[in-house]
Amino acid sequence: MTKQSVTHQTKPTSTEPTCDIADVGFVMNRRQFLFGAGATLTLLSLPGWMRNGGMPAQLQAQIAEYPRQLLEIKLSELTVGEAISFNYPWEHPNSANYLIKLGQPAGGGVGPDNDVVAFNNLCTHQGGPLDGKFNAEAGVAGPCPIHWTTFDLTRHGMVVGGHATLGLPQIILETDGDEIYATGVMGLIFGYHNNLVDPTA
Ligand code: FES
Repeated sequence: MTKQSVTHQTKPTSTEPTCDIADVGFVMNRRQFLFGAGATLTLLSLPGWMRNGGMPAQLQAQIAEYPRQLLEIKLSELTVGEAISFNYPWEHPNSANYLIKLGQPAGGGVGPDNDVVAFNNLCTHQGGPLDGKFNAEAGVAGPCPIHWTTFDLTRHGMVVGGHATLGLPQIILETDGDEIYATGVMGLIFGYHNNLVDPTA
């Protein structure tokens, strides 16, 4: 039997693996990927009524910079419960959304009563269509006709019950007088790997 000769090194050498800036850069790039390469990150502050209602004092969400799109409907033309369809950010079936005046304050709601919100129309579980399922009185979208997920439209589209684990993507709205603009999306739209990559390209 022969003995193997083992050499013990007591000091690290320059060839040993280390955690360097490249490792950190990889993490950063993955995060940036979710929002789209080169997108400018901005902070969205929630309205004051949510802070008064027991929500965290400074709940903030990061969103990528989207195009600002004027919607064809005016604030003064909205009636409670009427859901109005529009496409954003793309003229593509998965970018179909509904804008609705809930008649009750909602997270991200615009207008004098903070009750006008907009959400994507596809269930985040397997893309079930939510056409005709936006209910202002209950403040929900659903139940989804496929597996019965219901989303709370007053709380940024969070899941109330059902199979989906992700909230319904909320379309960020802004107003200027009577005009309504779509300016972003909170959440990944079903079927996209990145909301800002043209799905028709
Ligand atoms: S597709 Fe909507 S719950 Fe499954």
